[in-house]
Amino acid sequence: MSIRPPKKSCAVRDFLKPLKLSNDILCDIMKRLLKEVNKGLSKDTHEMAAVKCFLTYVQDLPTGQETGRYLAIDLGGANFRILLITLGPEKKFKMDARTYAFPEEKMVGGADEFFDYIAECVQTFKSTLKIENEEFPLGFCFSFPVETSGLNKGILTQWAKRFQVAGVVGKDVVALLQQALDKRNLKVKIKALVNDTTGCLMSCAWKDPNCRIGVIIGTGTNACYMEKIENVETFPDKSKPYMIINTEWGNFGSDGSLNDILTECDRQVDAISLRPGKEIFEKMVSVMYVCELIRICMVKCAELKYLFQGEITDHLKLKGTFLPEFMYDIEKDDTNLRKTMAILEESFLIHDVTMIDCANVQYIVKVICERSACLLSAAISTLVNKMALSPITIAIDGGMYRNHPFEMLLSQDGSGRGTALVAASIKK
Ligand code: GLC
Repeated sequence: MSIRPPKKSCAVRDFLKPLKLSNDILCDIMKRLLKEVNKGLSKDTHEMAAVKCFLTYVQDLPTGQETGRYLAIDLGGANFRILLITLGPEKKFKMDARTYAFPEEKMVGGADEFFDYIAECVQTFKSTLKIENEEFPLGFCFSFPVETSGLNKGILTQWAKRFQVAGVVGKDVVALLQQALDKRNLKVKIKALVNDTTGCLMSCAWKDPNCRIGVIIGTGTNACYMEKIENVETFPDKSKPYMIINTEWGNFGSDGSLNDILTECDRQVDAISLRPGKEIFEKMVSVMYVCELIRICMVKCAELKYLFQGEITDHLKLKGTFLPEFMYDIEKDDTNLRKTMAILEESFLIHDVTMIDCANVQYIVKVICERSACLLSAAISTLVNKMALSPITIAIDGGMYRNHPFEMLLSQDGSGRGTALVAASIKK
């Protein structure tokens, strides 16, 4: 006799209804995003636009002929990494990378300690690889909203994700890092400041010349794309036909344009975040916030006694306790919900978890991940439609993508290799 899987309850299903977005709403969201992107590109509205569409100053895709040895720093995603990348003839490529911890207190501390810590890690990296005495050009992949004014110049406009370092907003992050590197006499010169989306696009374009869009769906979310230069009003020099534009679409909705689709749980995620009112789209789509959204939905359902017979443990109440791996494991749980049960009992210390609770929790995770996927697809489609080019390859990277099956081209070490490619493409 086969055991029928437990069914989610009607109460939970009804509770989650506002998280299900119809096709009409998604099409409408596409129109709103397009409007925001155009605002960001236009000279008159750029200043107040929620979706900034920053210039990257990257106007050429890699040719495959790039050569040289480069250091790259990759900061802002799930891992902080330093890489030594060697690009040889005929697309030969060698990479040596180290991941370093980024202590929580340095993410929310002061600017001096922040940049000095990065420099210290570069020093450790160079000495580990015994390349202390060599001089290197460096690509700095800094995955935050930066108003760039050249290939290696950019002012941080606001922090994102888990970072909130005092005294950096409004300053040139390249100058601050260069100072910290020079203080330690590290013999590296920052040649390029790159966003992870640009790195992602560049590293895929290195293999596939049709690559025109770079998307990150990890801790945060963002996209860049090749825009026709005549549409880039904020850049007067029209001598080259395109420029990669860093949309910073994570901030979409921060002017209230998505308020009608926000649920009570979304508002709670926003309220307890480091920057309430900002990065609204990112808070509905990216891994870091989607995990919080799942946790908060669970808490609300427990308060309403739809889950765990109303039990709300301290672990469940605590911000950041619902980890990305819980989300992926629960969503894909094909062990008769045993994995889900173990997570709820062992990591959240909930007593008397029933099979119906497990089915309900899995349903919460699925609905929230599906909304994230729908919103992301709507956003990508907005760019594809805007560009009206064919064929277009989309480069994509990030935990949410890696853990869900779509057919897109994975950006292999985009933020490292792509950053090196940007540095390499700068004429000496
Ligand atoms: C945040 C940052 C953005 C980055 C994205 C993905 O949205 O503002 O610059 O690309 O996260 O890491």
